[in-house]
Amino acid sequence: MGREVTSPTSNRLAPLRLVLCGSVDDGKSTLIGRMLYDSNQVFADQLGKVEADSRRWGTQGENIDLALLLDGLQDEREQGITIDVAYRSLETPRRRFIVADVPGHEQYTRNMATGASTAQVAIILVNARRGILPQTARHTRIAAMFGVRHVVLAVNKMDLVDWDQATFEALEEEYRELTDDVGVPEVVAMPVSGLTGDNLTRRSDNMPWYDGPTLLEHLETVQVTDPGDDAPFRMPVQYVNRPHSEFRGYCGRVASGTVKPGQRIRVVPGSSESPVKSVLVGRGEVERAGRGDSVTLTFSTEIDVTRGDVIADAEDAPAVSDQFRASILWMGEQPLVAGRLYLLKMHTREVTAKVTSIRHSVEVRTGERLAAKQLELNEIGVVNLATSRPVPFAPFEENGKLGGFILVDRGNNRTVAAGTISYALMRAANVTWQQFDISREVRAQLKRQDARCLWFTGLSASGKSTVANLLERRLYIEGRHTYLLDGDNVRHGLNADLGFTEIDRTENIRRVAEVARLMVDAGLIVIVSFISPFRADREMARGLFEPGEFLEVFIDASAEECARRDPKGLYAKALRGEIKNFTGISSPYERPEEPEIHLSTEELSPEDCVEELLRKLN
Ligand code: ADX
Repeated sequence: MGREVTSPTSNRLAPLRLVLCGSVDDGKSTLIGRMLYDSNQVFADQLGKVEADSRRWGTQGENIDLALLLDGLQDEREQGITIDVAYRSLETPRRRFIVADVPGHEQYTRNMATGASTAQVAIILVNARRGILPQTARHTRIAAMFGVRHVVLAVNKMDLVDWDQATFEALEEEYRELTDDVGVPEVVAMPVSGLTGDNLTRRSDNMPWYDGPTLLEHLETVQVTDPGDDAPFRMPVQYVNRPHSEFRGYCGRVASGTVKPGQRIRVVPGSSESPVKSVLVGRGEVERAGRGDSVTLTFSTEIDVTRGDVIADAEDAPAVSDQFRASILWMGEQPLVAGRLYLLKMHTREVTAKVTSIRHSVEVRTGERLAAKQLELNEIGVVNLATSRPVPFAPFEENGKLGGFILVDRGNNRTVAAGTISYALMRAANVTWQQFDISREVRAQLKRQDARCLWFTGLSASGKSTVANLLERRLYIEGRHTYLLDGDNVRHGLNADLGFTEIDRTENIRRVAEVARLMVDAGLIVIVSFISPFRADREMARGLFEPGEFLEVFIDASAEECARRDPKGLYAKALRGEIKNFTGISSPYERPEEPEIHLSTEELSPEDCVEELLRKLN
């Protein structure tokens, strides 16, 4: 996302990374353009272009429209808004800056989060005339969530309010009240004008009542800390470099701390340890490498290391867990529903993960905690998260690189959430899985069968129950040990508390899938007959079983045919509007894409379906 524009000047200092947030009318582009211009940061050729463009696009008559310096893309300019995250670099004699310029609209929250996730300082712009907007608090909260510890509240367009001290002070107070629970250690407020340059690079004569630093002075001198500044050595392994049998190096970027030859390290998860033999940067050996360096490490002892492992100081290695409390920003078009499986990417590791429960959502303006069953696009929430395998991690507060993650939709590869780990949940660590002497295999052997889960999915009245019933009779006659879990029946007991919203259906499927898993563990052939209309839920169920154990059986009949059959009279009621969320009428059914068995009950009799099933089973 975004593009990087670097200045041709040297890289003497570690640059300060800024994120500049403001809404359309806050004067963001003009402000940064003025900063660049007044600190002589505009290169001659670039300036020439701006002058030409100003005449064409500008809003400032014959004056140069400084906003055009930043709004790089022509189509953005034509729309009058900035859409992508644009990275700019500028440099003064004292410091170099990389500025992420992010649009203010709520629909660009994703860009805002991207910009904030790499920033050390957030400049939150407000228009003195329009005051604090919902986005102002939202931006601050998101910046804080992704590790920004220094905020500048720049009250812009002071020229439009006659440089009035009371206006500025009222806005500052309102802002501090709104954000005092956000947890940003440093908030500095300053009155500025992007149009005239007051308090940007030079002190304002118009506002003698303000005795703080100019924006540039502040940015040149602010001492920043990042989460992880004083954390011990950690390096997530990106890849194992093994050009020939004589050499094995582990490559990655140092996330925190330092590493030296001779230092004892541990590879996490696991407990293998070794002294470091050499630290290579590029092709050369170095005496020491630190945070941000891309290195290759070799070890004195041969140990097993793979991508996604974390190489850490042996004395102080990171914790490992598979259950977390985390904050997430939901960025999916579809709301987050607990129970679904996603791909979690964290440093160099990828694991399957699910949100096991939503604790609450956060009202972005006030920080209020609200009860929530789902998270909508651009909502922030606190959730419990479970990963399929234990991962090395650190709370985000302690180490930004080991505590940040994203969730990716496995179907379309889209990033649906960005999040930060608060802590590991001890519950899972304290509840161990008991190993018993009688295993699932032994239980199934005694019954002379292979345990299976046959998952019937299809519309109401498609014939699931009829075929399932017939199949169980045939299996019984053959001397098989079976059980039939039917939606209507399970909803009378275990799932009597659930209705037919998407959330309730997901929970319905989660519970019955867990029950089916226990039954397969007991050695049974389990037939599950539930509409289970959502693909993600069926995939979640599949994920509970060993490969080959779970067979998805699609009982296929069109909605028209099912409505014609209508044995319970439910379609008629649904069509009259008397049943809400009725599958096939007012709630979707997502057809299986690759079921193990596909049976059309419009073409086959129930008996034929069972023959087909038995053939597949044997
Ligand atoms: S699922 O969608 O959550 O998997 P399940 O199989 O448990 O559904 O229950 C479906 C049964 O509930 C149907 O066979 C029907 O008898 C009944 N039912 C009542 N309301 C609805 C509804 N809105 N949508 C679908 N089925 C419903």
